[in-house]
Amino acid sequence: MTYLDHLECSECHERLPVDVPQPNDCRDGGLLFARYDLDRARKELSKEDAVRGAASLWRYGPLLPVADVDQAVTLGEGWTPLHRTDRLAQAIGCGELWVKNEGVCPTGSFKDRGAAVALSRYRELGVSTVVLNSSGNAGAAFSLYAARAGMRCISILPTDVQPGSIKQCGLSGAGSFVLAADRWHEAGGMVSELSARHGWFDVGTMKEPFRTEGKKTMGYEIAEQLGWEMPDVIVYPVGGGTGAVAIWKGLEEIAALGWVGGKPPRMIVTQYEGCAPIVKAFEQGRDACEPWGEIDIPPGGLKSPTPAAGKQILRLMRDTGGGGVAVSADEALEAVAELAALEGIFACPEAATTLAGLKKALRSGLVGRGEQVVLVDTGSGLKSVPTLPEAACPKIESVDDVMG
Ligand SMILES: Cc1ncc(COP(=O)(O)O)c(C=O)c1O
Repeated sequence: MTYLDHLECSECHERLPVDVPQPNDCRDGGLLFARYDLDRARKELSKEDAVRGAASLWRYGPLLPVADVDQAVTLGEGWTPLHRTDRLAQAIGCGELWVKNEGVCPTGSFKDRGAAVALSRYRELGVSTVVLNSSGNAGAAFSLYAARAGMRCISILPTDVQPGSIKQCGLSGAGSFVLAADRWHEAGGMVSELSARHGWFDVGTMKEPFRTEGKKTMGYEIAEQLGWEMPDVIVYPVGGGTGAVAIWKGLEEIAALGWVGGKPPRMIVTQYEGCAPIVKAFEQGRDACEPWGEIDIPPGGLKSPTPAAGKQILRLMRDTGGGGVAVSADEALEAVAELAALEGIFACPEAATTLAGLKKALRSGLVGRGEQVVLVDTGSGLKSVPTLPEAACPKIESVDDVMG
């Protein structure tokens, strides 16, 4: 059972039905969001119901767009650990620091949440083939979850996609194609054309409403794991923007249900200096992003020169009193090493931009030294082995070579 009621455009507020696969093609640049009958849910549903639920994102089943959760496409995604990281907090001078470890999701990143929920719903609606462009992690998640669902997935990936992701795509038996990295800005258009030509359903970033529904559960979980409290600040690494928009959508929903009180957290987004259209637009006081020119970032996520949810993210950054921080690739790699050495958390560099960004934000005063901060570690370092810092592991011939 689901409280899903209708779909709604974020800009013109047009309402659309939920019983057909609905592409996000609002002409006014709006995004399509799923809306629930929260008044009814407030009377009938309690947070204790969620607490008693599965140890996965499906614990929030009635607030997801899937009619029959028992038939959901699942590999055990969500309900990832939120670690309190006191040693790291002390090292960087942060009042209270938590890390949400999405690296433990089945394919290694938070993208599994969107794939599980979207494919569950689209399979219910009779879709058999989905198509998307992805810098790697979403392609891997959709390819493997489509295999689990008995569906077909076609993905277009950049040539510098991480080897782990391309193997996940390839071994899943999905149709995976690579496009020269310097033509990456054409990938979205290619996917639209393939969708129109073959009738495949486009599940690219913000091209439909249900990936967001999977990702919003990160917000539900953060609040639940903090004892149904809002943190002061959430730091999120932004590419296309679905993840960050989704977390705040989730928090707004559970606030509307009365499950959590307090103010929504301040949204701090991080991007690489070599592709930072959101940080730049925020600093320039603009409401929308301008397309980023030449992209100069390490392989992996955050390769979004025209973030699909740019407008919505900028609005949230302003409304919540947040901000944006751009970091260099070297700063992200340093943060990967700090997370591993101080807390045993093995993050990918994109995810570690959150720690690098937080350090800068603490220095500039954007984040106060006494605030409670959650970093979203969006993916495992195992997805990015070739880009990780070198680590000295000397060869030995005997135990005499092992230094204490
Ligand atoms: C590991 C990782 N973190 C963050 C992001 C950014 O996510 P979003 O596109 O939802 O902003 C991506 C997207 O590719 C990613 O792969």
